[in-house]
Amino acid sequence: MLVTCWSVKGGVGTTVVSVALATTLARTHTLDGGALLVDLGGDVPATLGLPDPRDPGLTGWTSAGEDVAADALARLELSVGPGLALLPRGRGLPGPSARHEVLARLLGAEARPVVVDAGVVGPDSPGLPLVAEASRSLLVTRACYLGLRRAVDLPVRPSGVVLLREAGRTMGREDVETVVGAPVVADIPVDPAVARAVDAGVLARRVPRALARSLQAAA
Ligand SMILES: Nc1ncnc2c1ncn2[C@@H]1O[C@H](COP(=O)(O)OP(=O)(O)OP(=O)(O)O)[C@@H](O)[C@H]1O
Ligand SMILES: [Mg+2]
Repeated sequence: MLVTCWSVKGGVGTTVVSVALATTLARTHTLDGGALLVDLGGDVPATLGLPDPRDPGLTGWTSAGEDVAADALARLELSVGPGLALLPRGRGLPGPSARHEVLARLLGAEARPVVVDAGVVGPDSPGLPLVAEASRSLLVTRACYLGLRRAVDLPVRPSGVVLLREAGRTMGREDVETVVGAPVVADIPVDPAVARAVDAGVLARRVPRALARSLQAAA
């Protein structure tokens, strides 16, 4: 199972959702190999309360071309929690879309559940194949018209929406589903306990209950 979490506007909660989902899947799959979290955005280590890993990372792998050793991707993995492995982003610019197509195929063939934090995706993002090839492609968004109209213009469609629910928005769940053309699979309250857990680097150790409950259907 390849789950790609992505957004069309920054700062909406994509990394938090990716880390919480991967942590939950790692716990439920501890006996059969755990889960793999793939970081294209670069914020996952800090969200896990870890220092940024040194090179190499995925950007090196995607820009290295076709001559890398067959097991090179597996050698980039770091163990970051019970049953949870991380493929870190690394430094530098990501390689071309063709290498992300290869990456999507390799991750899609994984026996473990894989969660990708694809970050902000635009029409020219090299990471688009990871959104297009995912078995679950989750758009993380707030009920924000300016963000949603960007989603409509993309060449990819999500299979589900993770909605960050804020007080005072005029657009509701049904409006979001109508605009995006996909069901809301998780409705997450904006909760200061989540922001505090992220800032303290303890999100993966203790996923706040409301967040874990909201993500159950998406996991
Ligand atoms: N459910 C939530 N409740 C409260 N705060 C949240 C929630 N989800 C995320 N946040 C906070 O919002 C901020 C942005 O979250 P996050 O880094 O996950 O967004 P992002 O979409 O990955 O951003 P970027 O586009 O920069 O990668 C962080 O400070 C985080 O703690
Ligand atoms: Mg992020």
